[in-house]
Formats: sequence, C-alpha cells, structure tokens
Amino acid sequence: MNSYKRRYDEKWNFKEGSMNELNHQIHPYPAMLMPLIVRNLLKKYGKGNNTVLLDPYVGAGTTLVEAQFYGAKQAIGTDLNPLAILISKAKSIKYDFDTLKKQIQHFSEYKKQIDYNIDIHSNEIHNFSIRDSWFKEKNVIELAFIQRYIDNIADEKVKLFFKVAFSVVVRSVSLTRNGEFKLYRIQKNKIPEFNPNAIQEFLEILDKNYQLIYDYSKKTSYDTQIEIYEMNSKKLKSIEKFQNIADIVITSPPYGDSHTTVAYGQFSRLANEWLKFEEANKVDTNLMGGRNKVDLDTKFNIKELDDTIEKIKEFDKTQKNSRHPAVISYYVDYIETMESVATTVKKGGIVVYVVGNRRVRNYELPTDIVTSKTFERLGFTHKETIVRDILNKRMPSKASPSNKEREQISTMTKEYIVIMEKR
Ligand SMILES: C[S@@+](CC[C@H](N)C(=O)[O-])C[C@H]1O[C@@H](n2cnc3c(N)ncnc32)[C@H](O)[C@@H]1O
Repeated sequence: MNSYKRRYDEKWNFKEGSMNELNHQIHPYPAMLMPLIVRNLLKKYGKGNNTVLLDPYVGAGTTLVEAQFYGAKQAIGTDLNPLAILISKAKSIKYDFDTLKKQIQHFSEYKKQIDYNIDIHSNEIHNFSIRDSWFKEKNVIELAFIQRYIDNIADEKVKLFFKVAFSVVVRSVSLTRNGEFKLYRIQKNKIPEFNPNAIQEFLEILDKNYQLIYDYSKKTSYDTQIEIYEMNSKKLKSIEKFQNIADIVITSPPYGDSHTTVAYGQFSRLANEWLKFEEANKVDTNLMGGRNKVDLDTKFNIKELDDTIEKIKEFDKTQKNSRHPAVISYYVDYIETMESVATTVKKGGIVVYVVGNRRVRNYELPTDIVTSKTFERLGFTHKETIVRDILNKRMPSKASPSNKEREQISTMTKEYIVIMEKR
C-alpha cells in the first residue's frame, strides 16, 4: 500500500459535459455524480448486457439510469432518503406516455377548482410542525390542493411522476434560499416580493419532466432490471440475494456526516414532509455519521486517518465545540458500510468509489486512502485512483461546518475516483 498513487487526468473533468444528460435533471439532488463518469466507467469495466451494477448510495439514481442506458442486465440501488428512492424510481421506470399526457391535461383543467378561501388550519389541509414558517399561506393552499390531487391518482407510475414534480415545486415555492442545501430562509426584506404560484410552477415542471422522460425513452430499451430499496447499505451483507452479485459497484458516498456537510435530510425535509414520508425530520441522523455516540478513542489503523483525527482533536481542545466526534462517527459508519458492500461483489468484480476529501479544522481527511485501504483489507486490489476537478457538481464551494459558528472553510475542488478489483 505504500505505493498508493493518485493520477490527475484532465479527461475525467468532462469540461464540455453537462449534468443535463438523459433524464438526470428531472429533480435536483445534492452532490449528484457526473453522468459521464459513470458512462465511461461502464464502457471500460462493464460486461455488456450481462452487467450487474450496484450502487449503495444511489441518491437521485444517476448510476441506475446510466446502467439502463448502457443496457446492463440488472442495476440495484439502495438509499436511506425516501426522496432519493422516489426520484430514482421515477427516472428508471417505463411509462405509458398517453396515460401520462392525459393526466397532465386533466390537471391543467382541474386546477381551476382551487378554493383560496379555505382555512389552512382546517383538517383538510396537510399540516406539520414547520409548515407555516416555510410557506406562505397561499402556497400552502396550492400545495395541499396538488397533494390531494396526487393522492387520488390511481395509476402508480403516473402518481410517482407527479410526486417528483410536486417535490420540485415544494422546494421552489418554499421560503428557502436558492442554491442552499440546508434550510436557510430567504432574507426578510425579500419575503413580501416573493410570490410564486405553485400551481403554475407545477404544470411547468410536469411539462418539462414529461419531455425529458419522453426523450429518454427513445434512447433506452428498458431491458435492465432495476431494483431500488430504501435501506441502510450497511445491511447489504445480511441479505442473501445480494451476496456475490455485482460485476461493478459505482457509487459516490456522502463526503462526511450529513449534519455538517451536505445535509441530504435538510435538503429533502420539506418535500419529505409534504409527501408524508415517515421520519422526515430524522433523515440526517440516520445517515452516516449522524449519531455521535461512538468510542472517541477509536483507532482505524489507517495512519493517514488516525493522524488527521489526532490533529482535529488537538484543535478541538482550543474551541467551544468539538468536531472530532462527528468525524469519528462518520468513518466508523463508512468503513462498516464498505465491509457490507464488499460482500456483494463477484470475484474479479470492480468497485468504484467517487469520493471527496473534505476539510475539518482545515485538515484534509484522506477519504480516498481510507477507501482504498479498507477495500484492500477486504480482499481487493487497488487498480488506480484518478483525480479530477469538480466543475459541474451541485455543491457548495464553501461550507459552513457549523450553523452556529458561521465558520467558512472552502470544501473540495477535487474528486477522487478510487478503482478496486476483487481478488
Ligand atoms: C453523494 S449522494 C449520492 C448521489 C448520487 N450518486 C447521485 O448521482 O444522485 C450520497 C447518498 O447517500 C445516502 N446515504 C447516506 N448514508 C447512507 C446509508 N448508510 N445507507 C444508504 N444510503 C445512505 C444519502 O441519502 C445520499 O442520497
């Protein structure tokens, strides 16, 4: 392992490439994989229509759609965030476009029946604890109207498609700032002039997404068997049918614990609430590193990681709050998950983790090395680590690691594509 090397390769920046490929943009999602990375990896390591791909952190389903586009035999994805499951399913199922079109036309007529005089505190209107702090009254009425309409759609596929558009609109009409992952309010003086129309936006998204899905349908045969599960990827090792199944794992794990890095739960919270997903407010705690109850003396036996954690611990002594518990908790979970993922891979199979090395207290955490060393311990050989610039990912270039502190530390500008092969 002393020979661990990284190779910067400009080709993997895909400067001209866009995130708007295929149907990837039907719903925004934080830290989506660049689709062309997946496409190229499949081209290089895939086994044509015999390929079985697995993605333990499937997010918005980039890998599944790419596997489908490639013509893989099977593509399996897991994620803990119900919104991720919803988006992934909506992107990869085959629709009947006539039925879909008719339902969109029906809604564009039905919308006239909205009653703006309804009391938003009546039982007919969905309520949750933070609703009224994030939505204007008019938008609550509109969203509740759409929600009730969706509840009554009988066709499950059409319902899924409508739910995705609904989730996009929930976000866009909420009083959250554009471009933020976390729930940050728009400035107070901007609230009076912020007057979106949820019904109108919903129709626009339905039309836009219809076109994206329709165009995509002309490019795929839908022969790939897609399986998507809402579960912790730690559990993969205890499920018989997932053992030794994958020819290739392509994934991008969270960069750190969800509370202080990319807050998937916060990003999805309002949509998860309106979509009535249970435990909408607990997603970040359930994700990797979300629970801080870990042994703070844990040693990972990976020198680069243990040394960095020691430095963060030292720095913490001079500060009011401690950052190292969340870091340790994240790596405990991360390594346990890799141990589980390793069991799903066939002999000779390929594992590709696209990771970022974030900084805490200005010390870079060597996640690419941790990934490579852990998989080596689990019977894999390190093939290579490609370094690329992050050019077109939806990521904050600065992260405020603590809402309280308002501390600004620039996050990653590089991504590491760690490629391993099972011996
Ligand atoms: C970087 S995102 C994946 C983005 C995805 N590659 C895409 O293109 O949309 C990481 C995902 O990991 C999920 N996640 C975090 N911890 C998890 C766990 N223990 N089990 C399953 N999913 C988890 C998060 O909900 C998030 O969707």
